[in-house]
Amino acid sequence: CRVAVLISGSGTNLQALIDARQHGALGPAELVGVFSNRPGAGGLERAERAGIPTCVIDHRQYADRSAFDQAMQAALESWQPDLLVLAGFMRILTEPFVARYAGRMLNIHPSLLPRYPGLNTHARALAAGDAEHGATIHFVTGELDGGPAILQARVPIEANDTAEQLAARVQRKEHQIYPAVVRWFSEGRLTMHQGHAYMDGNAI
Ligand code: GRF
Repeated sequence: CRVAVLISGSGTNLQALIDARQHGALGPAELVGVFSNRPGAGGLERAERAGIPTCVIDHRQYADRSAFDQAMQAALESWQPDLLVLAGFMRILTEPFVARYAGRMLNIHPSLLPRYPGLNTHARALAAGDAEHGATIHFVTGELDGGPAILQARVPIEANDTAEQLAARVQRKEHQIYPAVVRWFSEGRLTMHQGHAYMDGNAI
């Protein structure tokens, strides 16, 4: 199973996938390329260190989302990916791009969806006085952070937590669950049909 990872930032989730692969914990998933829309993304160095091909296309060079997504798709297709893994990829995707990879694109979002789609999730969970918070891995559909959930990880919110402390606690969990889900997909266990996610043929 050929996996391309899309990033915009530091790439700690990418690193977790690289480490899992090196420890034999990613099953038949192969990391065939890392794509970034940000030239300076820290994750690019992680990819290079691991010997994974990289591609950077700066979205600011494109007139609109559609032109950028078309360029990105052409670049990704050269890797012939079976799965796209969004790991801190901070772009909203156009309908044709989402449709092209329907059922073959995963995202990780730092909240217990459907709570807190969008940005600043840690601060929002703190402001709401929530007792717990976490991360969700889901299939990507046309709805922002709205596709069917596959796996969630929960963490407690402690008294006097800052958004940074909470983010770090959530990220440690992210690094555990993303490799597991990528492995399941690569083993053919995870599918999406008509907007629902299935594991081993059972609705999740
Ligand atoms: C993660 O918290 C992820 O949930 C969110 O962006 C962050 C990416 O972090 N979508 P990293 O680049 O993997 O370190």
